[in-house]
Amino acid sequence: MSLPTTYADMRGRYRDPWKNIHARLSARSRVTNLGVTILVFFLAVSLLMNIRRSGRIVQLVDSAGSDMIKCTSSVENLRKSFPIVYGEKDALLTHLVVVAGHAIWKGGDLDGVHNDENWFLERYQRGGSVNTFVEHIKKGLEVAVNDTTSLLVFSGGQTRNQAWTTEAESYYRLALQLPTTLPTWPISSGRITSKAAFAPLSADAPSTMASTSPSVIQPVDTLPDLANIRMTTEDFALDSFQNLLFSIARFREYTGTYPEKITVVGYKFKEQRFKDLHAKAMRWDANKLAKDGEKRFHYIGIDDERQLHAQEKDNAYSLFAKDLYGCHGKLLDKRRKRNTSRRIPPYINSAYEIAGLVDWCPADNAGLQGLYPYSLPWDPRVQGSAIGRGARLALEQNGGKFAQEEILADGKKIVT
Ligand SMILES: *[C@@H]1O[C@H](CO)[C@@H](O)[C@H](O)[C@H]1NC(C)=O
Ligand SMILES: *[C@@H]1O[C@H](CO)[C@@H](O)[C@H](O)[C@H]1NC(C)=O
Repeated sequence: MSLPTTYADMRGRYRDPWKNIHARLSARSRVTNLGVTILVFFLAVSLLMNIRRSGRIVQLVDSAGSDMIKCTSSVENLRKSFPIVYGEKDALLTHLVVVAGHAIWKGGDLDGVHNDENWFLERYQRGGSVNTFVEHIKKGLEVAVNDTTSLLVFSGGQTRNQAWTTEAESYYRLALQLPTTLPTWPISSGRITSKAAFAPLSADAPSTMASTSPSVIQPVDTLPDLANIRMTTEDFALDSFQNLLFSIARFREYTGTYPEKITVVGYKFKEQRFKDLHAKAMRWDANKLAKDGEKRFHYIGIDDERQLHAQEKDNAYSLFAKDLYGCHGKLLDKRRKRNTSRRIPPYINSAYEIAGLVDWCPADNAGLQGLYPYSLPWDPRVQGSAIGRGARLALEQNGGKFAQEEILADGKKIVT
């Protein structure tokens, strides 16, 4: 039996404004080709403007609340407060050496560095891993000492709930104590007169002033000036992908430029993951050669003496293969577990050219489909002369001249 529509029903339907709007919106209409072209054009222009502006221009309102002042967010004024280091001008830093952190050293006597109790460790790291961490630090120091164009970066954040300090800081302090040569700026090497300040205060070290008489205060100029040491920390990374990405960003923050060459010191079993996945995720071509003819990406792997990590290798590799940026599922959970201090890395500002990459997170399981698609400072077209293939073609067609200067999305300029 079919029910006739009641009068009340009919009234309701005609009075309902939403149904009216819906009907209008879903009605067919014609748009000319010109109309579509204009719409697409404005969409493209607005997208382009937004991409170019993201992270670069900040609009400020003055006290009257009216005038807008534009300023770049490239923190160049804050950078002016960086001290000029002796020797800095003579050595252009182009080589990033990363030592990836794995735990936090509590500090204290160097003699106790091989004891688990002096570290904040995961359970699986007990019983020998700390020896490997020390080897990683020594190897990083050796590479950095050998190459005066390198900056050694210890990388790792506040990853342990039990310690309010970073992995990187603890590695740095450990490096200062090791009886190993430190990387310094070329000219300043003569100024670092002693490592005594960092030597352990043990009775069998009579050469240090502190141990001969604790009341004698070291004259300031015999202490190594940390600003003269080509070594720094990256204090935010929560996993190996971030060790690499954030160290590049920290290099930018420290030197003002991006590296041409990268060496990573870490676990041997992670080498494939770094080369196949982490470098690829930031479109850092690991097989390309740097200007000096050496590979742009170099990995020095040192594993624990005991083979405990075989299982971890496969897990993380396959997880990162599906989730290149480590921002979903198990990889995200791991980061959350290591991020009790709730830090947001400063690189969005201090390495603003790669702000988009630092915060990039494509869909889960996207794999290579989710590769970061926007311009990066190390893309081939802005290497060297900063003139890429397309730009060179335009240059030739124009008889060697650009019609006007072109500013690339990452802020680099091509000037005639
Ligand atoms: C550093 O240089 C020394 C001496 O030239 C060399 O024996 C050593 O293998 C180099 N180390 C690294 C890690 O390149
Ligand atoms: C750490 O947590 C904060 C907030 O809880 C988040 O905004 C930040 O991105 C996290 N840091 C990293 C490096 O993932």
